[in-house]
Amino acid sequence: MSILDAAFDLLQCPSCGAPLVAADGGASCPSRHHFDRARQGYLGLRAAHKGKGAPASGDTVEMLEARERFQGAGFHDDIRAAVLAAVPADARGWLADLGGGTGWYASAILDARPDLRGVVLDASVPAVRTAARAHERLAAVSADVWTGIPLRDASVNVALRIFAPGSASEVRRILAPGGTVVVVVPDADHMRELGHGLKLLKVPAGKADEVAVSIPDAALVSRAEVRSRVALTVEQALDAVFMGPNAFHQDRAKVGAVLEGWSAPISVTLAVTVLALRVP
Ligand SMILES: C[S@@+](CC[C@H](N)C(=O)[O-])C[C@H]1O[C@@H](n2cnc3c(N)ncnc32)[C@H](O)[C@@H]1O
Ligand SMILES: [Zn+2]
Repeated sequence: MSILDAAFDLLQCPSCGAPLVAADGGASCPSRHHFDRARQGYLGLRAAHKGKGAPASGDTVEMLEARERFQGAGFHDDIRAAVLAAVPADARGWLADLGGGTGWYASAILDARPDLRGVVLDASVPAVRTAARAHERLAAVSADVWTGIPLRDASVNVALRIFAPGSASEVRRILAPGGTVVVVVPDADHMRELGHGLKLLKVPAGKADEVAVSIPDAALVSRAEVRSRVALTVEQALDAVFMGPNAFHQDRAKVGAVLEGWSAPISVTLAVTVLALRVP
């Protein structure tokens, strides 16, 4: 049985919330909402869009490639280690990586926690294509986790929300009794040296404190500040900017022209908080 087939134990219809079953090369619910399984191995669980504005489409290929290079160079290894340390050593059952991108964090956790199986949910189709091949115990689903997570109530033992959006009430709903959610949020001075010169989106202060109290009846189990100073080439600094939401507002060539005027290596602060919360 493939890991995606196994994941039907926790998938639910994004349109009506009923359990999904495998059907006709995809998935369907008793009300006959049908969803396709892509050739590349992920399941597309997008409900008809009801909200205002465009539906979330997630990161582009260029953003994913920038993040892959930045993570591949080791700059997020400390963050990944802190995330792993926040996942209980005896964790078993299902892990859900919300806005999990290419599954970089989920794969590392599955390697270290053999009794966990995982599912990445992300709005970006190119991201879930990659995530579907990332680990043999990792399923991939394209979904908008902001409007509703297509997972059943109390079905998830470990949830991750790493540099990604997610509704606190939905996270609470999917967590099983005793379940843990690990959240990574940037601190106000994360990449401040780049922010100053380049008019980047500002990281609001106090985000970690907000998250710490946001999940109904969850208790804070651990809180780690992961800070470092890294020396970046111009290309690496560009990747740091263009792997995140700034990519939607900035032009890489224009920012590159500004950075060429700075003296390399560019010293940049990385500062995030890793929180683990547990529900009763
Ligand atoms: C900054 S990236 C972080 C990815 C991954 N957690 C990591 O750190 O490697 C944010 C991710 O959230 C996804 N995303 C943005 N809005 C989303 C939404 N409404 N629903 C699901 N995923 C979303 C993006 O496609 C992207 O993969
Ligand atoms: Zn349905």
